[in-house]
Amino acid sequence: MSNESGPVAVITGAASGIGRGLAEHAVTLGMRLVLADRDAVGLQALGDQLRENGAQVITCVTDVGDLVQVERLRDCAIEHFGAVDLLFNNAGVMQTGYSWEITDAQWQRMLDVNLGGVINGIRSFVPLLLRQGRAAHVINTASLAGLVSSPLMAPYNVTKQAVVALSETLHYELAMLGAPVSVSVLCPGPVASEIMASNQTVDTAGSSFSQLLDNTIRQGMTPAELATQVFAAVAQKRFWILPHKGFKPALERRVHSILEETNPQFHMTDVEEDAHAAR
Ligand SMILES: NC(=O)c1ccc[n+]([C@@H]2O[C@H](COP(=O)([O-])OP(=O)(O)OC[C@H]3O[C@@H](n4cnc5c(N)ncnc54)[C@H](O)[C@@H]3O)[C@@H](O)[C@H]2O)c1
Repeated sequence: MSNESGPVAVITGAASGIGRGLAEHAVTLGMRLVLADRDAVGLQALGDQLRENGAQVITCVTDVGDLVQVERLRDCAIEHFGAVDLLFNNAGVMQTGYSWEITDAQWQRMLDVNLGGVINGIRSFVPLLLRQGRAAHVINTASLAGLVSSPLMAPYNVTKQAVVALSETLHYELAMLGAPVSVSVLCPGPVASEIMASNQTVDTAGSSFSQLLDNTIRQGMTPAELATQVFAAVAQKRFWILPHKGFKPALERRVHSILEETNPQFHMTDVEEDAHAAR
């Protein structure tokens, strides 16, 4: 149950999956919520459900790829709650297929939502967090794909690796300023969610890979378990949030391959091992 002075958390992509799990967990910590999603129906249903349980929640239909809408989200948060303490730049979409077969429109959608959404969140909210002059936290949802590339996921790998780079840069910049604003980057492996519903039509090779990915995600960690780990890391002001430990050999192999200048090799079992580790 939240109270009038609970921290204010803004969560994008809140209507489903990881964002929804974060929202439900935040309520148990007494936070006041500003929930954003482009899915107006799902967003309203979640807002109603949380309010019925006594939480202070506002919802704002937002396309994170549009800076004007993200600025409106910030203004809405300030109008209702007067401050923002946590910002979860979480909304994201999936696109599989061979790099060269993904259309302009598909590339653009991935860049706009997965990367543009985080850029817009940072540009809209960080100046506010700095002006507030008190502790605040920005949590950007990347992915294991932000650390290790898989075939047939080029726009996802590209945008998530950019989110990791952006998060590290922001962390350094805020530290340079001595600002009380912390940053985390969330890099989960498979989490049970609806993300594969956002995958657009792919070719034959891409579609069998999509099926494997879909199965792996459906068997992944629950959003509730993920949220518990995320809020524990935020309480510790931890930058890296890596809830799936099974991927570490893949990351070690990648670093080794870079340092030794040997050619990278992908092991499909890495994806499957992460799903098993999450169960
Ligand atoms: N599920 C996984 O296995 C997994 C693993 C690693 C990272 N992630 C990342 O977690 C984040 C959340 O994904 P999820 O798995 O919960 O998927 P999901 O599809 O269940 O939820 C994503 C939500 O984002 C919303 N959304 C999509 N585009 C939007 C936009 N332009 N503006 C506002 N809202 C938008 C959707 O409507 C949906 O409610 C994404 O960034 C995703 O890349 C997911």
